Amino acid sequence: MSSPKTRTPNPNSFATGPDERGYFGMFGGRFVAETLMPLILDLEGHYTRAKSDPAFQAQLADLNANYAGRPSPLYFAERMTEHCRKSASEGFGAKIYFKRDELNHTGSHKINNCLGQILLALRMGKTRIIAETGAGQHGVAVATVCAKFDLPCEIYMGATDVERQKPNVFRMHLLGAKINAVTSGAGTLKDAMNEALRDWVTNVKDTYYIIGTAAGPHPYPAMVRDFQSVIGRELRQQMMAAEGRLPDTLVACIGGGSNAIGLFHPFLDDRTVKIFGVEAGGHGLGVENGHAASMNGGRPGVLHGNRTYLLQDGDGQILEGHSISAGLDYPGVGPEHAWLHDTKRVTYVSSTDKEALAAFQLCTKLEGIIPALEPAHALAYVTKLAPTLPDTDLLVMNLCGRGDKDIFAVADHLGMKI
Ligand SMILES: Cc1ncc(COP(=O)(O)O)c(C=O)c1O
Repeated sequence: MSSPKTRTPNPNSFATGPDERGYFGMFGGRFVAETLMPLILDLEGHYTRAKSDPAFQAQLADLNANYAGRPSPLYFAERMTEHCRKSASEGFGAKIYFKRDELNHTGSHKINNCLGQILLALRMGKTRIIAETGAGQHGVAVATVCAKFDLPCEIYMGATDVERQKPNVFRMHLLGAKINAVTSGAGTLKDAMNEALRDWVTNVKDTYYIIGTAAGPHPYPAMVRDFQSVIGRELRQQMMAAEGRLPDTLVACIGGGSNAIGLFHPFLDDRTVKIFGVEAGGHGLGVENGHAASMNGGRPGVLHGNRTYLLQDGDGQILEGHSISAGLDYPGVGPEHAWLHDTKRVTYVSSTDKEALAAFQLCTKLEGIIPALEPAHALAYVTKLAPTLPDTDLLVMNLCGRGDKDIFAVADHLGMKI
């Protein structure tokens, strides 16, 4: 087990972590069972080599372009901009862009990470894939790459999430994955991840675990971030082409934090860029166990192989967390976000269930884009933030998933029958 006293290598940069033992400041590390340690070290070795292997990078770039459909467009959300300017004072109301990662194959950013990790699994000679999923988007992306590369796949999903994300459960089934509904705890993402880790410890020899967010033991947080950073790298180029300069403001929703860190990371050392991560405020931050805002309502602890901010009760027991959105109700967050929160490079805020539901409908009506409930949290915050910014401010929100999976849940919340 590593000590939390290690330091990020270059104190003048926000973009060089983690250190060699997987720490971002005091967050991260590698808190895993002895049985997993050799595998984790093997994975780290393979990933380090793959990163600097032009053949690996070329294969990934080809899959990103021709299988996932990257680059995802940068879209000027004109009517959303007009809407926010209506409530702003003269000269205010940021110009709002969406980074359209919901247009990727399988409907979210999750495919970016899965393509990278499946290539690694193949390099490592693994013959069986497991994964956890909350909203089912990661599960669908994993089942998709397993179908493509002909590997058997088992997905752990909380029983509550199986119920609220039925369309994705059926998609995974069609893609040939075995879905294990997890009934322990609240039957949500945390419980699914517990079970996936148990499976991994038991089947370490042949099994590769594709973690779906920028959390877990080192090297997962850094590796998932690297695969997702294609979002921010593309954005730099696209914004230069569209406006001739970098964006001023970035906004993304935070579950475990993979879409957000993918957008943020390439801009962390551009100090003029303001960065906001939006956690799930559920029923409100004041309601105990009524939200999933681990940085705004939690404290540091260890879960799922890393030290990070966690929702905990007075005795340090992990709380279940709540969000209208299955992808955001994880009671922790990736360790790099915990560090960016403590160093204040990124501002972490929250949107409630109600605000997300309203933003979901607003985006659908104004832009003709049905967003997933996860980025609807980011959009809810954008509707508050944009009117306070000058009209010259270039704001980009990561529209990281499409809402097809959520229409039944939204109908329920709106009291409508479909
Ligand atoms: C569309 C979508 N956005 C966001 C998330 C949250 O994950 P992360 O914070 O890792 O991006 C999920 C998780 O399932 C998701 O499906």
